[in-house]
Amino acid sequence: MKKKLIAIVLCALIAATFVCPALAADAYSDVDDGAWYAQGVYALGERGIMNGMGGGMFAPDGTFTRAQLAAVMYRMAGSPEVTGEDAFTDTEAGAWYETPVLWASQSGIVNGMGGGIFAPNEAVTQEQLAVMLWRDAGSYVLGDEYKTEGGAWADASEWAKMGVLWCEVEKLTNENGAPLEPKAPATRAQVADIIYHCILLKESFANTDAVSAATKTADTTGGEDESQTAEAQKKVLVACFSCTENTARIAELAADAMGADLYRITPETPYTSEDLNYKDDTTRATREQHDDSARPAISGSVENMADYDVIFIGYPIWWGQAPKIMYSFVESYDLSGKTIVPFCTSGSSSIGTSADNLKKSAADANWTDGRRFSGGDSRDSVVSWINSLSIGVEAKENAHKNKGCVKSQPLFFYLNAARARYAMTIACSVVSFPSGSKRSASTPFITPA
Ligand SMILES: Cc1cc2nc3c(=O)[nH]c(=O)nc-3n(C[C@H](O)[C@H](O)[C@H](O)COP(=O)(O)O)c2cc1C
Repeated sequence: MKKKLIAIVLCALIAATFVCPALAADAYSDVDDGAWYAQGVYALGERGIMNGMGGGMFAPDGTFTRAQLAAVMYRMAGSPEVTGEDAFTDTEAGAWYETPVLWASQSGIVNGMGGGIFAPNEAVTQEQLAVMLWRDAGSYVLGDEYKTEGGAWADASEWAKMGVLWCEVEKLTNENGAPLEPKAPATRAQVADIIYHCILLKESFANTDAVSAATKTADTTGGEDESQTAEAQKKVLVACFSCTENTARIAELAADAMGADLYRITPETPYTSEDLNYKDDTTRATREQHDDSARPAISGSVENMADYDVIFIGYPIWWGQAPKIMYSFVESYDLSGKTIVPFCTSGSSSIGTSADNLKKSAADANWTDGRRFSGGDSRDSVVSWINSLSIGVEAKENAHKNKGCVKSQPLFFYLNAARARYAMTIACSVVSFPSGSKRSASTPFITPA
């Protein structure tokens, strides 16, 4: 207890000197307003999470110790109360970092360097920073398809690969989006910039929760019980067509976030890798996209389509447009009066005119604006998008149907995606398209990185 009291007093002293919220970031003589890390430095200073070295200096190029990082993350978490003692043999009782390190080890954010060592005064490396932030965010397991060739994850230590990959996917990078250098020490500028962007990520989750909470309060006004609230929810279907799982993954995230039903538009004759080879004008996908009357047959159907109020429809962009099978789909049902939300994935093209053209095949429905995703977009971006639509449907950051499965379910999905993508890559080398690409076998596609 005494140890704890001393630690609290010391932490407060450090907060008052080393971390001084009152010190405006623009007071730093060594931080240029236009510097890439300046925003992070300003924001973290204002929040009392990370400040300067005293004497009006921030020392952007200086290194940061492991203990300092624990302290910054502890403050980022709102400085929660912790009790107990850490199990490290090289941390000092009563040291200024005692509570943050205890919190970080109890939260599973730090494991130490092995052999009971925490190494509080060692400079934190970029991979250590990545792993600590990744663990703090929930240790999401990302599939192989996220592993771009030459990505920083490849240079990371085995234990750090997933953390570094996660940072890449969440765009927690170095200056100008440059990849992390896993084994290099993190500079104070990097820490400020990355921590700041992490906070923005966390806040976007929290905003989603706030929307959820507000909706719940509104729903329950007047004493409605839970079942009535559930009934009042619109019935939502997420239908998607996907050959290499990019769109399917986004559809899965959307359906899971809304607790919606998921329907896979399955061609009667599946597309082979050769069918998808856009480099050859004679292959099936390309021929269909040329042919205005093409309506590839679908295997099966949505039996209870009449029950749905809102239908999300997802598709890959093929030559700037929705694949013709999407026309087969929308023309198979009476969608009048329903809200239709189009979304797509693509190598790089925008949704462009694809949704507007598809709309013509179900003009009596109420179409919202469409949205393009990349195959690797995060659950958060899907959730934020859905909640911005004002269609009376709520998306949640945590799974509706699969509470607690957010880690394992995407993993299963990602693995399938990786397999499918591998097959397609062999045939097509598809990755990136110039935006608004026109159909021509000579279009200069950018090959996989
Ligand atoms: C036949 C064909 C045409 C494509 N045309 C485009 C295009 O015009 N623009 C683009 O950015 N990507 C294009 N792509 C790439 C896909 O849109 C992208 O890989 C998409 O995410 C695949 O989704 P899926 O995995 O759900 O099938 C094309 C892919 C194929 C197979």
